[in-house]
Amino acid sequence: MSTDTLVETPESVRSDAFVEVNYADRIPNNVDLASDRQLQRALEAWQPNYVDWWKEMGPEGFQDADVYLRTAVGVDPAGWAKFGYVKMPEYRWGILLAPKVEGRTIPCGRHKGEPAWQEVPGEYRSLLRRLIVVQADTEPASVEQQRWLGATAPSLYDMRNLFQVNVEEGRHLWAMVYLLVKHFGRDGREEAQALLERRSGQQDNPRILGAFNEKTPDWLSFFMFTYFTDRDGKMQLAALAESGFDPLSRSCRFMLTEEAHHLFVGETGVGRTIEATCAAMNKAGITDPYDTAAIRKLGVVDLPLLQRKANFHMSVTRDLFGSEISSNAAEAFSAGLKGRFNEAQLSDDHQLHDATYPVMRVVDGAIVTEQVPALRAINSRLLDDYIADCQGGIERWNKIIEKAGIDFRLTQPHKGFNRRIGEFAGQHISPAGEVIGAEMWAAQQDEWLPNAQDLRFIASLMQPCHQPGEYASWIAPPRLGINKQPVDYEYVKIA
Ligand SMILES: [Fe+2]
Ligand SMILES: [Fe+2]
Repeated sequence: MSTDTLVETPESVRSDAFVEVNYADRIPNNVDLASDRQLQRALEAWQPNYVDWWKEMGPEGFQDADVYLRTAVGVDPAGWAKFGYVKMPEYRWGILLAPKVEGRTIPCGRHKGEPAWQEVPGEYRSLLRRLIVVQADTEPASVEQQRWLGATAPSLYDMRNLFQVNVEEGRHLWAMVYLLVKHFGRDGREEAQALLERRSGQQDNPRILGAFNEKTPDWLSFFMFTYFTDRDGKMQLAALAESGFDPLSRSCRFMLTEEAHHLFVGETGVGRTIEATCAAMNKAGITDPYDTAAIRKLGVVDLPLLQRKANFHMSVTRDLFGSEISSNAAEAFSAGLKGRFNEAQLSDDHQLHDATYPVMRVVDGAIVTEQVPALRAINSRLLDDYIADCQGGIERWNKIIEKAGIDFRLTQPHKGFNRRIGEFAGQHISPAGEVIGAEMWAAQQDEWLPNAQDLRFIASLMQPCHQPGEYASWIAPPRLGINKQPVDYEYVKIA
């Protein structure tokens, strides 16, 4: 096993000092768990339930496989992970906090400038607990959503990346459960248990947020999810990393380090899909990206379908930001529990007493932009920051298409397209941003969102490639392997 730095995306978030993780404990941690026996006992009581959940709801069919995984051994960005073969149920899920910043103060809201809280501020207890529970709930949800994908992995490299994302989402659950159990007493323990009981997509006890009850039925969905929906995770974690509640801030800062890999998996997964499509089109002499019948015969995903797939994932993920105008979000900010994206770098009063923010909404059938008190537009702003953050990868995907000489560009649909929550809920808005009627929507939606034929075609492509070095027709091999291993490395030894 070697210790190595992951240099894979420009999105890695840096933390400052090296804190060794204690792996001698039953629960690996860098929070000196051994010194708090009561907490240790409570977490050790939760641990077997967690493992039972993992075995029941984690990757189906691969629980005995040896997977080449990274495990966090510290929180130093220069060497925080080691790699080696692990059976997933034996993965060492640990509790890791980024180092404490001495003298840290609350960055925003009415307590701005006061020392950051090390204990839960009593007056905000239930709001804070809710923020943590909602974040926590998304972590096991995505594992559940992705649990069938191993069987159709387009390569062992991709299968390994899927399982890496899965075990790290599991660790993110640990990170949040630690906060609940340590800081919220009996309520926290009950919430920790409930997190193992809800199930993605289940009727009577679903996960809390809509997008986390959607299916992730195929690998294209997985890559779109890790690019677009894990990026919502990045934005939420970044906003929670600004929390005045210091343990939450430190948890989220380290989670962001791991999140960078998930975004990398999504971006390169879609990028490699595009690469395979463009190469196959060029080889066959097809220049028209809309000649989909001919393109699909080549066993690759046509670009218009990728656009529809992206449209779906973008719109569903935008709903995760909640109502654009929200008094709950205003209160979380004013209380100092959740900041804005890059709060510390923003140059304003960090209290938003008199500030306004432009929010798009539909008034009398037309989309207008109105100035709204900035405090009430916190969600709207985070959504705008998210949309801007999505664009980088889309540009890089377009470069691949451009380089191949194909006349096609992937774009983001209008903010109001296909929304169920917030200002645009109940409206019909085209990707170009026209407010249209229900009839027009019904007539056009198969052009804008994956249609039944698309989904059947994608399903037909999902043939497993489980030999080292083998890659499915629809996806190009990566340029580099994981941890400097070759691309034909046996990343998963299937039992
Ligand atoms: Fe996560
Ligand atoms: Fe993630």
